[in-house]
Amino acid sequence: MTAPMSLRARHAAASVFERMPPREARPLAEPPPGSGLKPVMGDPGLPVLGHSLTVMGDPLAVTRRGFERFGPVSWANIIGITIVSVYGPDGIETVLANRDKAFSSEIGWNEFIGPFFERGVMLMDFEEHLHHRRILQHAFKRERLVTYLRMMNPVIERGIAQWRTGPGFELYPATKQLTLDIATEVFMGERLGPEADAVNRAFVNLVLGGNTPVRADVPGGRWHRGLQSRKMMEDYFRGKLPAKRASETDDLFSVLCHAESEDGARFSDQDVINHMIFTMMAAHDTSTITLSMMGYFLAKHPEWQDRVREECLALDKDALDFDDLDALPAMDMVFKETLRMNPPVGMLARATLKDTEINGFYVPEGSIVALGMYASHRMEPFWHDPDRFDPERFSPERREDQRHKYAWAPFGGGVHKCIGLHFGGMEVKALLHQLLLRYELRVPATYEPFIDMATGPYPADGLPIELRPLTGSAARAA
Ligand code: HEM
Repeated sequence: MTAPMSLRARHAAASVFERMPPREARPLAEPPPGSGLKPVMGDPGLPVLGHSLTVMGDPLAVTRRGFERFGPVSWANIIGITIVSVYGPDGIETVLANRDKAFSSEIGWNEFIGPFFERGVMLMDFEEHLHHRRILQHAFKRERLVTYLRMMNPVIERGIAQWRTGPGFELYPATKQLTLDIATEVFMGERLGPEADAVNRAFVNLVLGGNTPVRADVPGGRWHRGLQSRKMMEDYFRGKLPAKRASETDDLFSVLCHAESEDGARFSDQDVINHMIFTMMAAHDTSTITLSMMGYFLAKHPEWQDRVREECLALDKDALDFDDLDALPAMDMVFKETLRMNPPVGMLARATLKDTEINGFYVPEGSIVALGMYASHRMEPFWHDPDRFDPERFSPERREDQRHKYAWAPFGGGVHKCIGLHFGGMEVKALLHQLLLRYELRVPATYEPFIDMATGPYPADGLPIELRPLTGSAARAA
């Protein structure tokens, strides 16, 4: 396993802190007398740093230890914020279903990504959220998806035809570039060119800005570049708006300019800009991580690669149509198992608007709550043998995800449930279909990717694989 030097140093530092004896546990707040609720327990970690360093080491191991010590709801200081973590489907359901209107997505997410993605639909609550989501929904209707898929297929074909064959091909950055190219054409309606490259760069800075632990506007820093890029993206979309308003095309930008809810409401210019920036962010790293980790698992488990490729060959076409998506059951199981093992949005943020209860624990007003999706997908007792790649868990005979509505929740749930889940599934499957028809993917049996945490777990070593052109009867598109 190779990893960037800075990462290795960080992990080494983290392991030193992990070996230190745990600090004394304290309650976050005392539950009201007679409430029957338990206090949320945790420990503050080191002065100033809190637990920031330990979670940057092996976040799964740290979480498992915390779960054993404190149970499904606990608190810790991380990157200067006191965070209440929730693990397991019962607690996740309480927060996402939000029946008591006790949780704010706007305040929770603002704490982490606010300045870069302000007024995105995920950073809105209740009536306002519903109003925006209703209009946005028009961009994700079935007939729109059919058109988006037709638009993205040639971009995929051009992109993967240029991928370098042989060992050491870094699947993660290559997929990242390709999903950006897809977004440029399908979301913005742009042909690739120098302008698109500049927008792509600004977009990457924006996402990095939201992921940096150093949250200060210092020139040269990621936060600063992120803020500059936000401004650049706003100017870019504002410049294009009049032309987009004046004519209707098939890209998301145009759809948002013309979308209307049943009661005739439409987006203002600033709304369109905010939703474009947020939606592109929401679509980008999530699909990239899913596709590249699926590629890794298929390279690691050649029997699954053969099975999924057989399915693709049986369709007998170079590119998927929308209706083909239901005819790929093995690919679908691999998709779901990859999202279980490696959910790209590994943590969901909320804030409490009043004193409330999660899983029998007392959580006071003003708490920042983090739903541990990654850890919950990877912990006993929520999943059996959770570190094993076993797509058959999702077969009709087993359907282990159906044991609890929130046992498998890579797309979240409740009113903020991912609006792009069909788009994301379609993009990932269309890409994988073309990839498997053209290439064989291999990794050495001993290889494990170096997983780091940003919005969720991602392969920080770039995922080096061997890409072999297919020949003979296995090849179709080569
Ligand atoms: C495999 C790919 C994807 C995964 C795993 C994923 C995951 C998620 C999750 C977990 C949420 C809920 C966040 C929360 O409740 O706090 C979410 C929301 C959202 N996602 Fe996705 N997403 C994916 C792809 C996409 C794509 C392709 C798009 C757009 C084309 C998209 C657009 C959105 C939007 C707009 C929201 C906010 C919805 C709202 O607040 O009402 N996502 N996504």
